[in-house]
This record gives sequence, structure tokens and C-alpha cells, in this order.
Amino acid sequence: MNRIHITLCHSLCILVLVFSSKLAAVEPIRVVLEFTPDLDNGRRSFEICARCHLPEAWGNDDGTYPQIAGQHVNVLMKQLLDIRSGRRNNPSMQPFVQERTIGGYQDLGDVVAYISTLPMNPAHNRGPWPEGSAEYESGERLYRQHCSSCHGQSGEGNNELSYPRLQGQHYNYMKRQARLARDRLRRIEPVMASLFTTLTEQDFDQVLNYVSHLPVPVSDLAPDTAWRNPDFK
Ligand code: HEC
Ligand code: HEC
Repeated sequence: MNRIHITLCHSLCILVLVFSSKLAAVEPIRVVLEFTPDLDNGRRSFEICARCHLPEAWGNDDGTYPQIAGQHVNVLMKQLLDIRSGRRNNPSMQPFVQERTIGGYQDLGDVVAYISTLPMNPAHNRGPWPEGSAEYESGERLYRQHCSSCHGQSGEGNNELSYPRLQGQHYNYMKRQARLARDRLRRIEPVMASLFTTLTEQDFDQVLNYVSHLPVPVSDLAPDTAWRNPDFK
């Protein structure tokens, strides 16, 4: 079976990597699709997303919805394609990201480009252990040792490499995602998946607690929690 990996680079192009099992030892075929995001079309498509994610795309404290505002475009794109194909299980959202409902790569690119214009939640859900506590410090140590090489010194992630920004993400959402990955209900990068064999559940809670306390740059945040997306007034 062929495996297709698609990445949106710099919000301007899609890099399609086609791996063929018949050509296992051969270089992947690279196809780059270039286009200019249309933010108006992205905003229109986002109306459907906003029914669940709300117009601000801020997610919620109990972790049922992630904050998607502020996430890297390549990460958003990868998630949409994974959810579209069923590679990532999300039955409630899946119908809304099909080609017949939202459209092709251009439309997906437009909606992620629109989401990337939204300011982030100034009061995301944080873990229970404050700075200075033993749990916080243990989390910091584990983060530096096992996570920052991909997710960044300040949890900023990496758009080029499709590593999610964790900074500003709800603690409860990250905890739930980590549990799903540990139980193999969400496929995750193999190096990260291997950490579930070395780190305990408590280690993960502490490291995610630390991540949830990392500050988000003020320039990426909405002025206050009363901010409402003016495009949806
Ligand atoms: C019916 C409700 C619903 C609709 C409509 C919906 N979503 Fe979602 N979405 C969810 C839920 C629930 C999750 C969290 C899934 C999980 O816990 O694994 C999610 C997760 C995501 C994620 C993954 C974020 C991450 O970092 O893990 C992205 C990106 C996303 N949605 C974007 C969109 C976009 C863009 C649209 C519109 C095209 C959309 N969603 C429409 C319910 C919805
Ligand atoms: C080798 C790189 C790598 C390392 C090391 C790594 N991760 Fe990840 N992580 C990823 C990638 C890639 C994803 C996105 C997977 C996908 O495509 O769905 C991810 C996803 C996540 C998510 C879900 C984010 C979301 O928006 O849904 C969390 C939470 C997370 N990682 C936490 C951690 C923690 C905590 C550590 C250290 C204990 C860690 N990761 C180590 C690469 C890494």
C-alpha cells in the first residue's frame, strides 16, 4: 500500500511525499503544490468549524476541545488530513473535512491560514502544580531531557517539521492526547511514542503541567478573555 504524507510549507505550498512499499529502498517522490491562501474563503469554511470550535478557536478547560488558534499551519494541515482519512480517529469532526464538504487542498489551506490569523486564549487551562513546587521542577527537568528537542525550548513547536506548539494548549487536552497516544488510540511520531515505555503516567502529568505553565508571547494573545472574533459578529 502507498503511504502519502502531505505538508503545507510556509502556508504557501503543499509538499506531498509519496512512499511506495514497492520502492521501499528508494527516495520518496516529492511533489510540491504551490498556492496562495484565500483568507475570505478560509473564513467562510471556518463557519462550520466554529459550530464546535467556536469563533475564537480557543478550546475549553476540560480538554474536550483543543486550542487551535496559534497552532502552526503545517500541524493544523496534518491534523485535518489525518482526521479526513481516518488515520486520526475523530468521528464527530470527520464528515466536515471531507472533500465533498470542505473541498480540496486549497480549501484546507485557506481554512488553516485563516485560523493562523486568530489571537490565542489569554487564560488557557493550566496544570495543578505552580512554579516552585517539586512537581513543576521535575516536569521542567523531564521536558528539557525528553521533549524540548522537538517541541522547542519554550514549547513553541516547529512549523517546518510539523511539531505542534504546546505552549498555550490546555493541560487537560494534552493529558487526554498523551493517554490516547500511550494507549495507541492516536498515532504519534515514533520517537515520542517510545517515551511511553520510559516515562510513567505521573512523569507525563508533571511534564505537561510544566508545559501548560510556559508563557505565551503577549503578541500572540487576545487582549483579554472577553475578546470575541469580530468576523463572527
Ligand atoms: C462536530 C464538531 C467539530 C467540527 C464541526 C470540527 N471539529 Fe475540529 N475537533 C473537534 C474535536 C472534538 C476535536 C478533538 C479531537 C480529539 O480529542 O482527539 C477536534 C480537533 C481538531 C484539530 C486537532 C488539534 C490538535 O492540535 O490536536 C484541528 C486542527 C481541528 N479540529 C480543526 C478543525 C477545522 C479546521 C474544522 C472545520 C473544517 C473543524 N475542526 C470542525 C470537533 C469538531
Ligand atoms: C521526536 C519528536 C518528538 C518528541 C521527542 C516529543 N514529541 Fe510530542 N509530538 C511530536 C509530533 C510530531 C506530534 C504530532 C503528532 C501528530 O501528527 O498527530 C506530537 C504531539 C504531541 C502532543 C499532542 C499535541 C496536539 O496538539 O494534539 C503532545 C501533548 C505532546 N506531543 C507532548 C510531548 C511530550 C510531553 C514530550 C516529552 C515527554 C514529547 N511530546 C516528545 C513530536 C515529538
